Amino acid sequence: MKKILVTGGLGFIGSHTVVELQNAGYKAVIIDNLYNTKMDVLDNIVSITGVQPEYHCIDLRDKKVVQDFFKKNSLDGVIHFAASKAVGESVEKPLLYYENNISTLVYLLQEMKRQKLSNFIFSSSCTVYGQAEELPITENAPVKPAESPYGNTKQIGEEIIKETCNADGLKAIALRYFNPIGAHKSAKIGELPLGIPQNLIPFITQTAAGIRKELSVFGDDYATPDGTAIRDYIHVVDLAKAHITALERLLDNRNKKDFEVFNIGTGKGSSVLEVIDAFEKVSNTKLHYKIVGRREGDITAAYADTALANDELGWKHEKTLEEALLSAWKWQLKQ
Ligand code: UD1
Repeated sequence: MKKILVTGGLGFIGSHTVVELQNAGYKAVIIDNLYNTKMDVLDNIVSITGVQPEYHCIDLRDKKVVQDFFKKNSLDGVIHFAASKAVGESVEKPLLYYENNISTLVYLLQEMKRQKLSNFIFSSSCTVYGQAEELPITENAPVKPAESPYGNTKQIGEEIIKETCNADGLKAIALRYFNPIGAHKSAKIGELPLGIPQNLIPFITQTAAGIRKELSVFGDDYATPDGTAIRDYIHVVDLAKAHITALERLLDNRNKKDFEVFNIGTGKGSSVLEVIDAFEKVSNTKLHYKIVGRREGDITAAYADTALANDELGWKHEKTLEEALLSAWKWQLKQ
């Protein structure tokens, strides 16, 4: 049984990926410092899959502990999620973001080199494109200067990995996610935002559940058909499966270059008002919302050109926006 390290394996995307890894017959080894999640997630993974993943409560900033872990564990690959991801917080605490997202990446890659372990999947983001000139966005679209330290850590992270591939024999795939949403169909794992949600879907579900009074729609004066901003919302289970597909490409030596990048989205853009409308239909609720000014740093529209992921990686999304919204709603109702 191949053994795969999943850093941040108790987080939103990490936990869904651990489930898919176990379903596909891999042994998952989780590292998570519980900074942005709860221990219950581990029990819930077991309850979904019937398999107990190995778990280590390790903070990757602790270089010595990371070294010890790699000395003691023989692995076949690493899927690296552990990182901080709040855009606003990153502007206030840039050094925390560079330490959490960059220092830890360097430590991991150093240990992988020492152990001659070469298969690495990196959690990147469509944020690297900023507002792209052309839509849909292909992987060849230029990387734009980052709008925040968070965005910068994804760009720098990709650069570090690419150079390590050139110099040290690493093989890596960076997956540039569009907007991950939804939850496992069991409603046992999902997104656990800390405090007031910053992202659209958790804010919608909490508003529908009566936890928030009203959703603010950030801007209706964008150059889009209904004036609200457009994103490509991808079901987290589809996204999790993309990691298994990418991992197997490396394990089977089917990669064409040592460092590859794929967009992971549905290829379909939805406006904020379209998301609200779809949510109201699937949940059979009426959402209280008001239009307010634009949120600083937001772009007008982003959706993926998925041709490379579909044809070259061999992955395609399966679930619709409606299925994703319904799963997020069922998860919310269980909280
Ligand atoms: C945000 C981050 C992005 C990160 C991604 C991770 C910002 C500026 N960008 O992307 O870097 O990679 O999350 O998932 O924070 N919206 C509302 N009302 C709300 C919340 C959101 O109208 O209360 C709108 C936003 O203006 C946007 C859309 O909904 O048009 C999606 O927002 P969000 O879920 O925060 O994702 P992004 O901004 O695309």
